[in-house]
Amino acid sequence: MDFPAEADFFGKVHMTAVNPEARGWHIKARTERPPEYPARFPVPDDLVLWETVFPGYTPPYYVSPVVLKNDCTKNPAGWADPEDIKEVRETPRESFSGALKCDEAGRPKNPVGRTGIAGRGLLGKWGPNYAADPIITRINRVTGDVEMLAIKRQDNGQWAIPGGMVDKGEEVSKTLARELQEETGVVLDMAEGHVIYRGYVDDPRNTDHAWMETTAKHVHLSGETAARMNLRAGSDARAVRWLPLVPETVRNLYASHCALVKATLGEMAGQEHTGLSENDREKIRAFLDLL
Ligand code: BGC
Repeated sequence: MDFPAEADFFGKVHMTAVNPEARGWHIKARTERPPEYPARFPVPDDLVLWETVFPGYTPPYYVSPVVLKNDCTKNPAGWADPEDIKEVRETPRESFSGALKCDEAGRPKNPVGRTGIAGRGLLGKWGPNYAADPIITRINRVTGDVEMLAIKRQDNGQWAIPGGMVDKGEEVSKTLARELQEETGVVLDMAEGHVIYRGYVDDPRNTDHAWMETTAKHVHLSGETAARMNLRAGSDARAVRWLPLVPETVRNLYASHCALVKATLGEMAGQEHTGLSENDREKIRAFLDLL
């Protein structure tokens, strides 16, 4: 996969809306969980950081049977690391979040802090698990709304960016185009997309030793180009549609997609490159004030 090389990487990544250190981040990773996870050990705000001593912190250990079944050292088609960290060929030393620290057992520690669950949960890799999120927008000239190509997720029924996991050795722009096509039927070259975010994401599956990181890229389509696209839900999608980005839909998006969409709208409101009129930008700025 391609790693961040841009000189302005941190400038781009550390936007308030999606900055892991900003208030309001690392909430889902402490308070939400997929149904099969045990209850999270409660982690108060002031005890999130590993550097803060938390006497009595004993999070339950959980690894999904699905992850164990996909151990790539036992199953040639498997997508998961072996359960014994010592058998992992290359333990990750860094991620989009920077250099990683490990615990006494050699397990990488969540870069934002404690989550209340040890082990990998539903995530296959020890440490960062990489996803890619294609954010495709258009303006609906009838309603005036900015709309985003969105899917209804198979697992929880929430509307979401049609993202997915980066396959081993796959370039992120390939993942973006592949997931977009698999889930929505839309074929687009994502190499030209504008990077909105790269880094840690607040996901309900995150644990102390395994977490999601993503690369989100944005492409804005003209009305004519968007009208030519045939939408077809596939793969992990129950449905696909141009979702109007109104406060209610944006706030209820999956995982940290609300923050990613807000960051996208912020860029659309402030830049010339998407081909938007000053009037469109003004409307987006007004909308962002409502969020
Ligand atoms: C989803 C991405 C999301 C990531 C982190 C992946 O499963 O497909 O859209 O950004 O998880 O939440």
